[in-house]
Amino acid sequence: MAVLTIDAGTTGVTALVVSTEGTVLARGYQEFAQHYPAAGWVEHVPEEIWQATLAATQEAVDATDAEPECVGITNQRETAVLWNRERGSAPRRAIVWQDRRTAQLCTELAEAGHEPRVTELTGLRLDPYFTATKLTWISRNDRRAWQGVMDGSVAVGTVDSYLIARMTGRRRHVTDASNASRTLLYDIHQGTWSPELCALFGVPEHALPEVVPSYGTIAETDPGEFLGLRLPISGIAGDQQAAMFGQNCYEPGSSKCTYGTGSFVLVNTGKAPVPPERGLLSTVLWQHPDGHRDFALEGSIFVTGAAVQWLRDGLGMIDSAQEAEGLARTVSDSNGVVFVPALTGLGAPHWDPQARGAILGITRGTGRAHIMRATLEAIAFEVRDVVDAMSSASGTDTEELRVDGGAAANNLLCQMQADQLGVSVARPTVQETTALGAAFLAGLGSGVWSSTEELTATWHLDRRFTPQVPDDSQRAAQEAAYRQWLRAVERAKDWVQ
Ligand code: G3P
Repeated sequence: MAVLTIDAGTTGVTALVVSTEGTVLARGYQEFAQHYPAAGWVEHVPEEIWQATLAATQEAVDATDAEPECVGITNQRETAVLWNRERGSAPRRAIVWQDRRTAQLCTELAEAGHEPRVTELTGLRLDPYFTATKLTWISRNDRRAWQGVMDGSVAVGTVDSYLIARMTGRRRHVTDASNASRTLLYDIHQGTWSPELCALFGVPEHALPEVVPSYGTIAETDPGEFLGLRLPISGIAGDQQAAMFGQNCYEPGSSKCTYGTGSFVLVNTGKAPVPPERGLLSTVLWQHPDGHRDFALEGSIFVTGAAVQWLRDGLGMIDSAQEAEGLARTVSDSNGVVFVPALTGLGAPHWDPQARGAILGITRGTGRAHIMRATLEAIAFEVRDVVDAMSSASGTDTEELRVDGGAAANNLLCQMQADQLGVSVARPTVQETTALGAAFLAGLGSGVWSSTEELTATWHLDRRFTPQVPDDSQRAAQEAAYRQWLRAVERAKDWVQ
């Protein structure tokens, strides 16, 4: 028995075939284009996400004899997608979670006094990150597409909904509670779309997907549309929630950090949402088939791996992200350079959509290795910012941080992270935990596994990074570097006028 899982991330789609032991039997991957039509704007072509999904899935299923029993979907969250219900074609590009075009609209809504109520209902805040203001923007600026939304011919959703519509031959328009909880339109207490918020953002409820549990009987793929495969779609979750599932963070207090385009630290807070404090978000982890939901506090950092990607693609400093560690290790420190990678504004815990990236402390002695080392340090500092916020919000200290995602393979980063946090960092053998989590959800939903205890047995430690206990002067230097980072963050804020 095996499970197919699809992780439709921000820059590409990964498909895995996973065994009942939780090992990866086969893999496929396909990147798709990023579009930056204006400063701070980020768009995707939905058809390209769909084609990448087909290509990655084909590659994975061709690479193994194991026949999948079911499929799980996980996805970049918050991104707003529109598609024609009958044809599946999209009337416009998707507006991506990183897109900042609605910063002014968010400010206006906050100034009009809406933020406390929005936070109370959703656990989120008024920031361009979330789906709702992207839809408001479309309603005001793309009349043709919005006409279809109003007359019911065009569906609205996040990437999971869009892919499921395509995979089922447009028969199903669904999302799960974890994805719904990122839209600013979903009441996390009631577990339903909020008529009040739909009215505030001008989004008709009839355009939104049905919200279903994160695992169980959800839909079935149409073989005519989906590579000849007829499979139950029995697991769906936003990528960060899926990574929590894949890291076996089922108990309150357990936490993980996924290093992807951005980095996202989540801690399981149990059966009820806790009020978000200190720049954190309160969000649905997953909904069980019996309807009850588990919740998390989340620290969403927008740019971490994307900063390395920018050094590669924007500056040509390296040829591949794998070279980052080697280059950074050629120097012993960043020689005073601090990089604030606020390339798409700042998320948790600072929240400033008008912030932009800054590299400070450059001298004649600065080389590319120092900038690369400063980039890895920045990732560790950003994660420390949110872990510190979590500790003060919850009053308890993190005991261990489980890490996953692309940059978790970087040993230097993991060690920096452990040193900055002062807690051990645990890396599992399978680091594609997002895709694994969706496989676990799907397998649980269709009976491949029968309990989370079974899944816990599949987690294996690859390596634990313990904080290197420095002497007092090293500790002082480390703290001084962190304070310098916080000063640099202040300088990057409020840059766009
Ligand atoms: O909230 C955005 C997040 O879901 C994107 O994750 O892994 O595509 O950077 P990733």
